[in-house]
Amino acid sequence: MDKILILDFGSQTTQLIGRRIRDLGVYTEIIPGDSVINDETPGTARADQVRGIILSGSPESVYDRGAAPDRRVYSCGLPLLGICYGLQRMNFDQGGRVEPLPEREYGRIGVTVGKKPAPHNAAARFLEALDSRFTAWMSHGDTLTALAPGLGEYGTSDTGYPAVVIHDEKPWFGLQFHPEVTHCERGAEILSAFVFGVCGCSAGWTMERYVEEVRASLGARIGKNPVLLLVSGGVDSTVAGALLLNALESDQVHLMYMDTGLMRRDETETVRANLERLGAKRLHIIRCGDEFLSALKGVTEPEAKRRIIGDLFITIQEREVARLGLPDTYFLAQGTLYTDLIESGQGVGKKAHLIKSHHNVGSPLVDLKRKAGRIIEPLDRLYKDEVRRLGRILGVDEEVVRRHPFPGPGLAVRIPGEVTREKCDILREADAIFIEELKRRPAPRADGDAPAAAGDGFVKNGGAGGRSLYDDIWQAFAVLLPVRSVGVAGDVRKYGWVLALRAITSADGMTADVYPFPARDLLEISTRITNSVKDIGRVTYDISSKPPATIEWE
Ligand code: XMP
Repeated sequence: MDKILILDFGSQTTQLIGRRIRDLGVYTEIIPGDSVINDETPGTARADQVRGIILSGSPESVYDRGAAPDRRVYSCGLPLLGICYGLQRMNFDQGGRVEPLPEREYGRIGVTVGKKPAPHNAAARFLEALDSRFTAWMSHGDTLTALAPGLGEYGTSDTGYPAVVIHDEKPWFGLQFHPEVTHCERGAEILSAFVFGVCGCSAGWTMERYVEEVRASLGARIGKNPVLLLVSGGVDSTVAGALLLNALESDQVHLMYMDTGLMRRDETETVRANLERLGAKRLHIIRCGDEFLSALKGVTEPEAKRRIIGDLFITIQEREVARLGLPDTYFLAQGTLYTDLIESGQGVGKKAHLIKSHHNVGSPLVDLKRKAGRIIEPLDRLYKDEVRRLGRILGVDEEVVRRHPFPGPGLAVRIPGEVTREKCDILREADAIFIEELKRRPAPRADGDAPAAAGDGFVKNGGAGGRSLYDDIWQAFAVLLPVRSVGVAGDVRKYGWVLALRAITSADGMTADVYPFPARDLLEISTRITNSVKDIGRVTYDISSKPPATIEWE
């Protein structure tokens, strides 16, 4: 399968480049910008399908701390595309000059493409994608002040600096702007011209093909050995389970799910039904709610709660896995995604500083299996939306495929203060109503108008063909606050708990904006909650973005 290699110099948009090209049907792989380029890289059996290399952007400067690619990038004979820093790097490494701008250029900037004839056929195919005038998207503090020998300027930004650069003889291209960013006009066409027109890739990256590849490689690696996967009920682990069940004999596939008592309403039964429908025969549901609730008794400090949950998770996991009595040769599967690898700095990308350490509960079992070379991560080449697509192909229930993320410590981080069974029950009830309402209410139209409510006060099912509020929101949930407030029921004063609703939009959970609810939806949802959950007296909406707040409350 044809592949485009992306050398990552640390830009925030490197992943986007990878995503955009995959959307065109071509497989991409991101490796650190300074990786050794040798027979092990574009030359090997797997890598000889590399058809072109992209040099990404970077927050650094070429003349300062910016990393350089292995010089062999320039002699391997493959087409190159330098984006922003990637272009500056190419120019600098070939003997050109790069200097700081008097003022950083940021945002939409016009580019004019001159009438100079294309120096070679690849350049002609590349230039076809560019209009004579278009609005690009830029973010750079340095610029090219003298082009290296062999490089020519074919497009100029409105500020007068080179924006499109092409080599006279080699299939080397450079853009001072970011075609991967949606605000960049013709961005997809430009990437497409490089990938198909210049590199000659064919669009062979499909989820059907991925399933075939995984089937073959898992079969060869695992043979008849058992595989154990810990499932949480979320998208990643469910799709990983579906893939294992599709690729292996169902008797081989052990799925373990821990009901910590901190789950949402009906979660365990839904997980069971979904996995059984996918063909699971060896499903081990561990009900350990009592253990978790007694370990959390009297504990109010957020970090202490997280620590207790993490530790107990590991203890129970080890105990229960031992109880299964699997032979030592068993494999441990994980639903790790491509972005998880990048974020944890494991060999790909440069973004180690983005690790969400508190989310990755270290597990001795995983360490042990990794040392023994018996970990399998069948989703580790996929982005989240590709996992969703894969899930659909494998027949994973749509409700799971489009599900919002749910944190490992579950409702415990949504009950500030002490966690008790009673509070979990109240929160489960209120949260289920909130989510049910979001699923049946249509999303506002793209023009920003709130949808009209139906006569009964509740709008009709948002799922009937259109997008629902739930689909419009990245993550939504309820939080039970440790506060009682006064209200009236008939003639009597009554004290009820305060519930906070949270709904955010986000790209990846790293930052988040508050979801701008149509007011009517919030009012109706609040009314339904206070009418149905007797212990809740008041509902509030959390209007904090991340940063400074986090998505969860603890
Ligand atoms: P925060 O609260 O850090 O959350 O803004 C970002 C995203 O991560 C989820 N989250 C977790 N996921 N284990 C997980 O698997 C955890 O301990 C954890 N804490 C937060 C959170 O729901 C949001 O999607």
